[in-house]
Amino acid sequence: MSRGIFLVFEGIDASGKSTHARRVAQLHDALFTFEPGDTPLGVDLRRWLLDASTPMKPETESLMMLADRSHHVATVIEPTLRSGRDVVSDRFFASSLAYQGYGRGVDLADLEAATDLAIGTCLPDLTVLIDIDLDTANERRARDEKDRFESADLDFHARVRQGYLDLARRYGDNWFVVDGSKSEEEVAAVIDERLSSLAWSNA
Ligand code: TMP
Repeated sequence: MSRGIFLVFEGIDASGKSTHARRVAQLHDALFTFEPGDTPLGVDLRRWLLDASTPMKPETESLMMLADRSHHVATVIEPTLRSGRDVVSDRFFASSLAYQGYGRGVDLADLEAATDLAIGTCLPDLTVLIDIDLDTANERRARDEKDRFESADLDFHARVRQGYLDLARRYGDNWFVVDGSKSEEEVAAVIDERLSSLAWSNA
């Protein structure tokens, strides 16, 4: 049995990535999963990670994200890929580089070394970055309760967005950047066109 394909969606909050990740997973009968928090251990880690009332050093935040990822890879992503089923994940290691690295200022080389430890050889076949500007993100974002990341200042989100664009340039062919400011239907059409050439297990 051949290994499934591993697709990741990335983007700043309110980019629409979760909507498209779920849609694509359903379309191709792939497993939809997300970070942080899609394992029993991850549920607890996510609660602490998003809780704005518990201050945390950026390094602590990074290590908790990586703990979630390590467990997610070991118990969900890797076994599913090995079983021959495709996996679509809403966020993966690039979120740590963008948010904790570019956003919080944690050393990128340290984060990359820790990422190797957390994920081993389990790398995405393709990362889809849905890029939107901050004004569009702010208009879309709910104005009520804000978690640790939503309550961070505008500069933080600007650094995260720029970080993602830098990463896309660095990773080149393994990344596909989509303009997320267009309508949901237009964004879906661009994504689906790019994904049609992948070797899905269930086309
Ligand atoms: P979500 O809104 O996509 O569920 O993600 C929750 C928050 O966690 C989001 O604001 C981005 C943040 N995050 C990081 O800061 N680093 C990471 O490695 C991951 C996976 C998420």
